[in-house]
Amino acid sequence: MEREFGGKVAVVTGGAKGIGAASARRLAAAGATVVVLDQDQAGAKVAGEIVQAGGQSRFISVDLRSESAVADVFDGIARDMGGLDLLHCNAGIQRYGKVTETSFALWNEVFSANVSSTFLTCHYAIGQMARKKAGAVVITASVQAFAAQAGVVAYAASKGALVALTRALAVDHASDGIRINAIAPGSVDTPMLRWSAEVVAPGADEDEVIQEWGRSHPMGRVARPEEVAEVVAFLLSARASFITGSVYRVDGGLLSQLPVRLPS
Ligand SMILES: NC(=O)c1ccc[n+]([C@@H]2O[C@H](COP(=O)([O-])OP(=O)(O)OC[C@H]3O[C@@H](n4cnc5c(N)ncnc54)[C@H](O)[C@@H]3O)[C@@H](O)[C@H]2O)c1
Repeated sequence: MEREFGGKVAVVTGGAKGIGAASARRLAAAGATVVVLDQDQAGAKVAGEIVQAGGQSRFISVDLRSESAVADVFDGIARDMGGLDLLHCNAGIQRYGKVTETSFALWNEVFSANVSSTFLTCHYAIGQMARKKAGAVVITASVQAFAAQAGVVAYAASKGALVALTRALAVDHASDGIRINAIAPGSVDTPMLRWSAEVVAPGADEDEVIQEWGRSHPMGRVARPEEVAEVVAFLLSARASFITGSVYRVDGGLLSQLPVRLPS
């Protein structure tokens, strides 16, 4: 039987770890040739494991904040692979602070890793898709685009920017046959979440901090990266053929809940 993404070239940014690694594995398992882009060399291990499992993948080491580096990567993809069909823009970083605690340098660090990297990736990738008159893109935003926890000014603003970017891209490129959607995950058990647990509760048991965050989601737990990757695969597939400009919450009910408790 022909696999869903057979013959497609998929690019996953931030594919070395967490949600991106799960997405790379999920797309490869459905037949895509997956290009893992990351500045972390762990991306080579993800690509290697995909190949070992019988899939097709390659890792390219790149800092996605560098325009010349991103341009070179997509020139290479056009030259060697005939361009790309699917894109998961997922690389990002988390930083903490209220506005008074957020230096302009930190603000710029977050915006360049989360927003400028996505802009640059889309700038070079969507041109290639537009020439093919086909393509699909998913951008990883966050629930923090819609509701902020305390002390995440730069991160929340960056994720809001990605939702607005998603809508603008979707409107501009629908006529090119390209669909662009975003996902808004709640807490997902990844190296980033474990780093956050260490930052907000230094010295505490990491698993307990994550279980506590899980309890704030109506489903009572955080997500596994594979649960997020499943939604990415759906949005990139022909099964989502009339969906563009949307934001899919993958949050275990987190944003549906008002923090009002009745006396029991
Ligand atoms: N984990 C969560 O709870 C959660 C929730 C909502 C949204 N998100 C978002 O999901 C995405 C993936 O998060 P994750 O939890 O898997 O994080 P992660 O830290 O585990 O993985 C992120 C990857 O992005 C890469 N990356 C970051 N900046 C880069 C750059 N400039 N160039 C190249 N690679 C870069 C990192 O090296 C890393 O491999 C992020 O955009 C994050 O904001 C995560």
